[in-house]
Amino acid sequence: MSKPAPKRLPGSSGSRVKRWPHDFIWGVSTSSFQIEGATREDGRGPSIWDTFGAASRVANRDTGDIACDHYHRYAEDVALMRKLGVQAYRFSVAWSRLLPQGRGAPNEAGLAFYDRLIDALLAAGIEPWLCLYHWDLPQALDDLGGWTTRDAAGWFADYTTLVARRYGDRVKRFATFNEPSVFTLFGYGFGDSAPGKKGLAALNPAIHNVNLAHGAAVDVLRALVPKALIGAIHNYQPCWPATATDAAAAALFGAYWNLAFPEPQCLGAYPARLTKAMEPYVQAGDLARICRPVDWFGLNHYSPIYAKADASGPLGFGFGPAPADVARTPIEWPIYPDAFRETLLTVSARYQLPVYVLENGFGGPDAPDAKGAIKDERRIEFLKAYIGAMQQAIAQGADVRGYFAWSLLDNFEWGSGYGVRFGLIYVDYPTQKRTPKASFRWYADLIKSARQKDEPKAAS
Ligand code: FCB
Repeated sequence: MSKPAPKRLPGSSGSRVKRWPHDFIWGVSTSSFQIEGATREDGRGPSIWDTFGAASRVANRDTGDIACDHYHRYAEDVALMRKLGVQAYRFSVAWSRLLPQGRGAPNEAGLAFYDRLIDALLAAGIEPWLCLYHWDLPQALDDLGGWTTRDAAGWFADYTTLVARRYGDRVKRFATFNEPSVFTLFGYGFGDSAPGKKGLAALNPAIHNVNLAHGAAVDVLRALVPKALIGAIHNYQPCWPATATDAAAAALFGAYWNLAFPEPQCLGAYPARLTKAMEPYVQAGDLARICRPVDWFGLNHYSPIYAKADASGPLGFGFGPAPADVARTPIEWPIYPDAFRETLLTVSARYQLPVYVLENGFGGPDAPDAKGAIKDERRIEFLKAYIGAMQQAIAQGADVRGYFAWSLLDNFEWGSGYGVRFGLIYVDYPTQKRTPKASFRWYADLIKSARQKDEPKAAS
């Protein structure tokens, strides 16, 4: 059943910048497991998401086996990006394609795939932004404890060394982790994402070990890749109490969601609300190992969170209902552009780093009309409102240097499978035919006009 039209779309406050900052980067993002498919080809080892899918834990029993078949169709996808006019593409590398066992002998066929992708991007004039980890831990490492073991930081550093040595001649933009708070909370806290572990006893060490892995990877990249520009990508969403009695739960949820990674990584300390919980895992010197200088702050943002206390859940807090009059996307994510403006101002001021928005987008059940066109007007409205809020944040002083839409293609939306579509391009999964949606044309026009206005005039 479709939702009634939104009653209220909270406007965002303030005027907008008229000109985009010079060198503003327009891009688009994806991730390995969500698009590549070919999960058993050319020596790739299984990841925790293969296992999760095989256990029928994804909606509709979907798996990533084929996904968007990007492994074989990457050239077509790069050509589409070129049409879109993006300057940069953020993708992730599948650790188990390079190291089928997570460590040990590298897999040349897997390494060669990203050579082909990177070379195709460079030939198309699109800068590759390589993210080392977007949630697809090699299953062999999970079997050894995965992120709950301190050894994971060393495994990640070795994997980073392989990536840096192989691609560092052509890739300069590196992200260590995508949304560490999201994959630790869902995979190790709530337990409804891979690898399906639950409770604070798994969540807290996983957080600390991911932070250690981040610091170790920054050091490796700095040492091996001249002129590397390194960051991490955080999902930061204001966490508001669903009701007056949920204030404490919302504050704790917010500490896990927004602060558990950026604070130690950028400022060298866990937030006060988490200090006690992290104490058993923090050894002497760890915070200095984690807090390594980075060059930029990656921000993913979709909506605010309305949090509630949840005494029966594994963490004591959870997602509450948004107020009835707040607009929502078809997958019930609150639409609140002003929370995006506020978030941009907050992270820019607090971490004093250039901010790149590396994900923002709209998920729904898009379908072609009788003529095969996908008229995703609601996605366009969403993007307009959020990009407008970003312009306001810039006008108010936020140092935002780029915007990457999520996502290039409809893809495997984790536990929701293929039913939820976030792409600017529609993927007909049975045939793998790609059809640009109306939002693709809208975004292409936006990039074109933003870049024209932004282009410095040639000296006469
Ligand atoms: C983010 C993830 C991304 C995608 C979007 C919709 O949390 O980083 O992979 O699933 O949400």
